[in-house]
Amino acid sequence: MVKPGKAVTTRRFRGVTMPTSSHPAIRKVRRLGANPSIHGNKLWKSSLLLIDYLNTHRPAHCEKVLDVGCGWGIAGIWCAKALGSSVTSVDADPGVFPFLEASAALNGVATTQLASTLQNLSSRQLSRYDMLIAADICFWDDLVDPVFNLVNRAVKAGVKQIVIADPERPTFFAMASRCETRHCAELIEWKTSTPLRARGALMILHNA
Ligand SMILES: C[S@@+](CC[C@H](N)C(=O)[O-])C[C@H]1O[C@@H](n2cnc3c(N)ncnc32)[C@H](O)[C@@H]1O
Repeated sequence: MVKPGKAVTTRRFRGVTMPTSSHPAIRKVRRLGANPSIHGNKLWKSSLLLIDYLNTHRPAHCEKVLDVGCGWGIAGIWCAKALGSSVTSVDADPGVFPFLEASAALNGVATTQLASTLQNLSSRQLSRYDMLIAADICFWDDLVDPVFNLVNRAVKAGVKQIVIADPERPTFFAMASRCETRHCAELIEWKTSTPLRARGALMILHNA
């Protein structure tokens, strides 16, 4: 709800409520000193692509979901809320978790938090999940190999579906084209127009 002169504090998208940085719960988290340091400082638009795709193509296997590089975690929160998934939200930067908790509480759900780099997620850990999701995690040259290797480990571990969204960074395409070759992953363009605009690409891998 927007009143003249009042800051927007939430946005709704496909049934999930997303706090803006003006939301009182987010301001409180900031006041208490939480300060993400590896770009987990806001909700990134690629998570909208991920949510919209999963809303359109409801996954067959989504009981246990791993949201890698979760940041404020809205894609995993959507899975918990809309799909009833049990979600583990992973990030290298534990500074994102107070923001994730505030966002999850706004939606009446909770996710399990795991502070870990994606490089440190073992095949054994990955084997506990049906679906791996990620939004905008391949943003540096030196993340191309680690994200590709994460996908390889997840496939080997039997994760049934992997969906990674991105605002079409060259680093993402470098990773995704290797997944196309190795695992017949699909690379598609995706966009949303209402109620929020976002455009980018999705890498989708079915490992059934
Ligand atoms: C651009 S943000 C995207 C956050 C969230 N997925 C979203 O769409 O709003 C990238 C996230 O990846 C995390 N990250 C960066 N490098 C990582 C790594 N090596 N392992 C795990 N997480 C990482 C950052 O801390 C940050 O939260």
